[in-house]
Amino acid sequence: MPDDLSATGRDLRAYTDELRPKHPVIRNVAGEWVLLRHADVVAAALDHERFSSRVSRYLQVPNGFDGEEHTRYREVIERHLGHDALEPFIPVFESVAAQLMAELPRGSVLDAVSDIGAVFAVRAQCEWLGWPAELEPRLLEWMAENHAATRSGDHAWMVNVAEQFDKIILSVILPRRATEGNAPDDVTTRLCHEVVDGRLLTETELVSILRNWTGGDLGSIELCVGVLVAHVAQQPELAERLRTASDNEVEAVIDEVLRLDDPFVSNRRITTCPVQIGGQDIPSGARVKLNWTSANRDEAVFDNNRFDPERNAAANLVYGIGKHVCPGRLLATWELRIALQALLASVQTIKLAPDQQPEREVAPVGGYHRVPVIFL
Ligand code: HEM
Repeated sequence: MPDDLSATGRDLRAYTDELRPKHPVIRNVAGEWVLLRHADVVAAALDHERFSSRVSRYLQVPNGFDGEEHTRYREVIERHLGHDALEPFIPVFESVAAQLMAELPRGSVLDAVSDIGAVFAVRAQCEWLGWPAELEPRLLEWMAENHAATRSGDHAWMVNVAEQFDKIILSVILPRRATEGNAPDDVTTRLCHEVVDGRLLTETELVSILRNWTGGDLGSIELCVGVLVAHVAQQPELAERLRTASDNEVEAVIDEVLRLDDPFVSNRRITTCPVQIGGQDIPSGARVKLNWTSANRDEAVFDNNRFDPERNAAANLVYGIGKHVCPGRLLATWELRIALQALLASVQTIKLAPDQQPEREVAPVGGYHRVPVIFL
């Protein structure tokens, strides 16, 4: 049984493609059981009793909770991520995207991940949350260091980076808590006034929620943009089709591109009793990883991975499944569509830089580290 799925320096997507046909479940060097097939990942994600989300010793709101407790916090979060709450931000995201695309140089090499994905993600999130634009350089620096720390696997570095992020979040929360009544009317202030179990969310809970919305998701949007730009740069006919496609069609194509190359690799669970999955006996208290990237490429489910947005939509796991399914899906979908449409509207030709290959990210991160492109 292969035992190394966490080694750095390896393209995890290619590696799990190799493993999946023979090994539905593998054990990695950290002793975690990694589920690689679609049916097993779905079964574990839907079995909230036997596969608990209480995996971290740190507070994770709402993703580290199970059962009723999870539902109570999840309701608070969903209030800010539904259609009506997000709709007013569509023109805001459109303007952020159009301005960024206009600023980007033509004719020289750019990195779609750091120059487009990261900058768009940070600007869009700052606008959405009501955070000051001056935080942009600090957040961009933080994202780069967060990626580096995650890639290194150095636990102390990761903890330090997480603490730095908490300081950024506290710098926006504390003034809003202190100036009751005078605080700006924005999403962060509204979140600061949310009540759970008859009391205000604590500062620690707020930090955890906002860490989840920004720390994790800025990185996801950044990586998704990298995957999408790499894809359209290599498929000019798809780029042409998307220029005149409806919003729904563009969103469906984005979901399918991300299914084939899902940069949000995995989430963890812990077993609450002995289980059998993928023909494997797993003891109680074992750490399990739901590998979305691999499950999304399961040949048995996706017709040998033929590109087919309509056919493959129902089984697509980019945003997960079950009680913990991504509540930020609509926000992510709109942001990604708006960024891609703005790019296609402002750039005639998008091509990979000659003699420079896109560089893959390495485990535990997916997608690309760098996508060198030229816009004409
Ligand atoms: C392209 C970007 C994104 C991808 C691919 C993505 C993917 C996912 C996936 C697969 C899960 C399931 C986790 C699990 O089952 O343990 C998840 C959960 C979550 N996502 Fe996203 N996400 C994205 C963007 C966002 C955004 C923009 C937000 C909010 C601003 C967000 C907030 C969350 C939260 C709070 C959870 C935990 C939900 C729970 O435990 O109930 N995500 N996401």
